[in-house]
Amino acid sequence: MRQPEDRLVIDSQQHEDRLFPPPPEFANRARIRSMDEYRALYRQSVEKPEEFWAERARELVWTKPFDRVLEWQSPHAQWFVGGQLNASFNCLDRHVQQGRGSKPAIVWEGERGEERILTYEELLAEVSRLANALRAMKVRTGDRVGIYLPLVPEAVVAMLACARLGATHSVVFGGFSAEALRDRMEDAGAKLLITADGGFRKGQVVPLKANADEALQKLPGVERVVVVRRTGEKVPMKPGRDIYWDEAVRGQPATCESVALDAEHALFILYTSGTTGRPKGVVHATGGYLLQTALTTRWVFDLREDDVYWCTADVGWITGHSYVVYGPLAEGATVVLYEGALNHPEPNRIWDIVERRRVSILYTAPTAIRGFIKAGDDWVKQHDLSSLRLLGTVGEPINPEAWMWYRRVVGGERCPIVDTWWQTETGAIAVAPLPGATPTKPGSATLPLPGIEIEIVDSAGRPVPPGEGGTLVLSRPWPSMLRTVHNDPKRYMQQYWSQVPGRYFTGDGARIDADGYLWLMGRIDDVINVAGHRLGTAEIESALARHPVVAEAAVVGRPDELKGTGICAFVTLKEGKVASTELAAELRSHVAKEIGAIARPDDIRFADALPKTRSGKIVRRLLRDLAAGRESQGDVSTLEDLSVIAALRDSEE
Ligand code: PRX
Repeated sequence: MRQPEDRLVIDSQQHEDRLFPPPPEFANRARIRSMDEYRALYRQSVEKPEEFWAERARELVWTKPFDRVLEWQSPHAQWFVGGQLNASFNCLDRHVQQGRGSKPAIVWEGERGEERILTYEELLAEVSRLANALRAMKVRTGDRVGIYLPLVPEAVVAMLACARLGATHSVVFGGFSAEALRDRMEDAGAKLLITADGGFRKGQVVPLKANADEALQKLPGVERVVVVRRTGEKVPMKPGRDIYWDEAVRGQPATCESVALDAEHALFILYTSGTTGRPKGVVHATGGYLLQTALTTRWVFDLREDDVYWCTADVGWITGHSYVVYGPLAEGATVVLYEGALNHPEPNRIWDIVERRRVSILYTAPTAIRGFIKAGDDWVKQHDLSSLRLLGTVGEPINPEAWMWYRRVVGGERCPIVDTWWQTETGAIAVAPLPGATPTKPGSATLPLPGIEIEIVDSAGRPVPPGEGGTLVLSRPWPSMLRTVHNDPKRYMQQYWSQVPGRYFTGDGARIDADGYLWLMGRIDDVINVAGHRLGTAEIESALARHPVVAEAAVVGRPDELKGTGICAFVTLKEGKVASTELAAELRSHVAKEIGAIARPDDIRFADALPKTRSGKIVRRLLRDLAAGRESQGDVSTLEDLSVIAALRDSEE
């Protein structure tokens, strides 16, 4: 396996002794009320995994029952073999049939304050209309459909309409560029794209349709484009290809029978960054994914019938797929959906929504929390947050200070906090406290959920003793695990299953303490986690290398107070090109245009040379040290003299 690089302080110095048992009022009413209950459940899940999952899977509605629970031919798993079901049916029809049709499914708020509430019955009708429209546009089971939308109810409708027909959706975050959209649509082989005339973000219009048009210029495979009217701005519509959503669904019946799909049918492809320049299309299968997202929603968020649940993620990310759409809707929850920035127009927008909507469960990212801390407690204290009963975090390690603030200022010291560790590839939360059972430690994701077995291994793949750092691996298959990398099964094998044979390699450094609690210590590969979003340094480097003045670029992460990790790019210029502050600004915008604003480097540092090993590999460790040593550079108009370290012949070969 690859060597964990030594930037990771493998023997973590972090010691956190504070322990917060679940508040008794919470535990008394919780779905899982004690550690004994958790342990019993966990034991059953690892001792008799097939029984465990089968029993729970029967709670879903199957058109055809499964014959076998698991077929595991490492590293290929098939779950609920022979079974057929439909995710959209399980998220919608099932609840309507059980008499919950008039319960709000989606409570949507636009950035400008507009409101739309869709009950389960109404959501089912919208989904059915769109599914009929898609079918009329020749979308068939197994086709791929791209979704590139702002966070409007249509995004959820589009996903579920695809699921209803068995068309595999591939959602691309609305903040991604035309280029990024094109790459993903091309790789997915999408036949149809659902987008909007634009979206609102911090009062600005995001030109989604213009980006889509640019992306589709060289993509004849995308035959049709459905356009949601969101901003109302006039956008060019290509005759024969483009149609407005409202026109497409006009006259379509509000019922549409859902297609019975094999449990292993690909529900969606979601692209995520890896260690190379090309993002990976992570493929998730219908049955296992739906089951595990539903169960983890129930367990980790302790979801109850009267909860108002708000996960602030965009549906463009896995968190939005699993914990805005599939998990909570499969569980029949009322889901708050908010289109805009959490701090727009003022830093209290999030608290204002919590108060007005009486949100009881709030799930957000440490980056957002650090932003709220910076904005000041007064913004929070203006609001009555007594409706909250549970708080969650996801996407990156949360520093204990931010955890404590979240607990005290937002949770009024009454709400348990669930720090949830998982990945695009795991599909569902893998490690997290159960809020009515697990005593929490600030900064720890605590214990594995039922069905998940974790281990920390050293660079030779051997388990390390408690307290020692290493690489986090998962030791057995789980229902919502990724099935493959779209178009690249070899990469699936290499990336996830060959570093430690027989174990799933997470790419995260971590340690497990004497109580069995998991402490995440960041990525050990060339992936960085910026504001809870995963970016491949190679992707940013390729974007920089496409700029005509750049000879070579190396991108590393560096600590950032708000975003967790900031992006620092070391750039060498082509002969005769001159470093300047303007050029640095240009390169930053260039990356934002090539990938999306989230990938915009914080620092551009021009260097005369990059430190390399004899075999020509960039010594990132040195660059990381340099990047961490100085946060921003002020004057970037001179070349940094890295020739001395560049000439270092490091032993890392
Ligand atoms: O490094 C871990 C970090 O985010 C990575 C997964 O990123 P992505 O696939 O984009 O999914 C993010 C949302 C699940 C992980 O490899 N990560 C995620 N959650 C946590 C975390 N790191 C520490 N603590 C967490 N709770």
